[in-house]
Amino acid sequence: MEPDLDAAARCLVNARYVIALTGAGLSVESGIPPFRGPGGLWTKHGEPPMNGYQRFLADPRKAWEDRLNPSGPMRELWDALAVAEPNPGHRALVDLEDMDILRATITQNVDNLHRLAGSRRLLEIHGNATLIRCIQCVQRFEHDEIDYAVLPPACPLCRGLLKSDTVSFGEPIPPDVLTACGEETEYADCMLVAGTSATVYPAAGFPMAIAERGGDLIEVNPYPSELSSYCRVTIAGPAAEVLPALVERVRALRAS
Ligand code: APR
Repeated sequence: MEPDLDAAARCLVNARYVIALTGAGLSVESGIPPFRGPGGLWTKHGEPPMNGYQRFLADPRKAWEDRLNPSGPMRELWDALAVAEPNPGHRALVDLEDMDILRATITQNVDNLHRLAGSRRLLEIHGNATLIRCIQCVQRFEHDEIDYAVLPPACPLCRGLLKSDTVSFGEPIPPDVLTACGEETEYADCMLVAGTSATVYPAAGFPMAIAERGGDLIEVNPYPSELSSYCRVTIAGPAAEVLPALVERVRALRAS
């Protein structure tokens, strides 16, 4: 791992514009199961139906009843989210931001842990489980700002239909965050990819766009992913261990 850490640190220090892409693997050491691979929710329970959003639109009242009283794999996920805390991997990304190395973090995670860790330029492409979003005006609200006496609840601003801010399978990514992710990807010449299988689009397309332009990808993942063969450096290890070690290498390199 040592030579890879040095190579990765050199990439980060020499890059013009670095961004990060994170996935469920980053939060495994916070007690949240991944979706795929060993211990994955979908591995255990099977992939969910790919038309979650259409089912929401067909019967939003039922969808809200299920959201407020989750069962099965979603119960397991919400229970883990409720008690999870950021780990050293999340904090290492904040350190890289503080060192003006990391310009933005695109996360596929809905667990709010990047926010709790203090990430400033954060793009939650699959939404945030603590928030509620209006599908009409795209305004987002804290969970306790909404009255759930009548389901489905209506937007306090435009009376539009509210849903969890988490992006369901089959749902278009909200335009504001998708545009921002595209812009950050265009600026970047280096991407730190941590804890994702890189199998879900459009998120998995961002590192590919950077690689196709000749940019560097640095992967942190205990197992190979769809991206590994496109990466300049791949570090095979858990994010909560590797990312803090990478920060120390960057500090040492800058001091030398
Ligand atoms: N540190 C780093 N990576 C890890 C760790 C760890 N401790 N443990 C597992 N991983 C890696 C796995 O090897 C795998 O490649 O994290 C990845 C998790 O992959 P997925 O479970 O597919 O998660 P993700 O890529 O975030 O999924 C994308 O799919 O189900 C949807 O909306 C959901 O946002 C999610 C999207």
